[in-house]
Amino acid sequence: MPLIIVVGVQWGDEGKGKVIDLLAENAKVVARFSGGANAGHTVCNPHGKFKLHLVPSGIFYPHATCIIGNGVVVSPTILLEEIDQVRAKGIDCSKLKISTRAHLVMPYHVLLDQLEEESRGSKAIGTTRNGVGPAYMDKAARLGIRVGDLLQINELLDRLRFVLEQKNPILTKVYGTPPLSLNEIYEQCCWFGEKLAPFIADTTPLIPGALEKGEIVLMEGAQGALLDIDFGTYPYVTSSSPVVAGAFVGLGLSPARYPIDYVLGILKAYTTRVGSGPMPTEIHDETGRLIREQGNEYGSTTGRPRRCGWFDAVAVRFSHAINGFSGFALTRLDVLDTLSEVKICTAYKIDGDTLHDFPSSAALLEKCTPVYEVMPGWQTPISHVRRFTDLPKAAQAYVTRLEELTSCPMDIISVGPEREETITVRSIF
Ligand code: IMP
Repeated sequence: MPLIIVVGVQWGDEGKGKVIDLLAENAKVVARFSGGANAGHTVCNPHGKFKLHLVPSGIFYPHATCIIGNGVVVSPTILLEEIDQVRAKGIDCSKLKISTRAHLVMPYHVLLDQLEEESRGSKAIGTTRNGVGPAYMDKAARLGIRVGDLLQINELLDRLRFVLEQKNPILTKVYGTPPLSLNEIYEQCCWFGEKLAPFIADTTPLIPGALEKGEIVLMEGAQGALLDIDFGTYPYVTSSSPVVAGAFVGLGLSPARYPIDYVLGILKAYTTRVGSGPMPTEIHDETGRLIREQGNEYGSTTGRPRRCGWFDAVAVRFSHAINGFSGFALTRLDVLDTLSEVKICTAYKIDGDTLHDFPSSAALLEKCTPVYEVMPGWQTPISHVRRFTDLPKAAQAYVTRLEELTSCPMDIISVGPEREETITVRSIF
């Protein structure tokens, strides 16, 4: 199975980091295709505990080439910090490759993300304020600066001058903040170019090259499908395409020549969301707080408490419909260990009608109330379990019911943060 795509099924933070870290052991290439430093992967492995925002978690395996694809927006500051963080633990970063075509998150993007969010008041999206949205806006507006531009530093000065002529009036006249200095930003870019030069490459031939040799390639998405710019709960979405289709655009691979062998959806045993936007199964009582504490559900990028809720099978079925998952990795099942009962949302109620499909409008979703199926909890620790049949019967029944409701097999079940705290039901290789 050489071409595997890994995607978040829900609203992000499903635990992709751990699963990708696990799968990367067998992969020759691990490539990130969307998002930016808004993503946060926590990886626990024998080298230590790492919080990665941009560097693919395959970096811990010396045999793996790690690609930051053209679909990613790159904050050079954060990327350099991460490279330093992993190098400090003796990890070799020479196989990290950043696409010349990836766009840069510039200082004005971060500033504008913050100013725009503040100006939205109660309608704020709750972005990570990392400049990701404004960077994608500039990419579409053809005002972006790309990673490859850092290597053509003479041409960059004119381009930056033009961009700042657009940005500074917005900063000063719309938001009343001081203008940014062309020279300062240019100097920074020169420094970033020097530091990042060894990693910058035209990455497009790397994946076909590996696939032609029969090597395993993992393409990893950030965030989750329900935050997709087209299919998510617009406008409460991120600004890129974290769905399967985004992998081909975000890495420049032909789906006709290189068909996918396996699409792995990473799925939490419950639901979380950070930021604003509808979330029908959100739990507002003590159980929600318990799940948050038990699962340490705080954003790894912003530290914000995550909104916690029951498993939403309607939302997951929709995600499955647009992604076509081959199988799921169900994560954090152990977080539910102490609960006396667990609930699954099987449909929504809206204005007296029952809805089985996920609505395309956030306003409609906001009005939906969940229809729950209630199952007994298992109330016993499961982190030591390594075989599905060794799980408590109630946990087995819960997982089986999720499979039935989503029409997709749970091929991997994660019962703790460590690599070995994993049940492989069906090998995906
Ligand atoms: P942005 O991507 O920073 O513009 O934020 C847009 C929305 O996506 C906000 O609700 C964020 O909280 C959410 N978001 C962005 N990245 C992630 C992530 O990696 N996990 C979960 N939510 C995210």
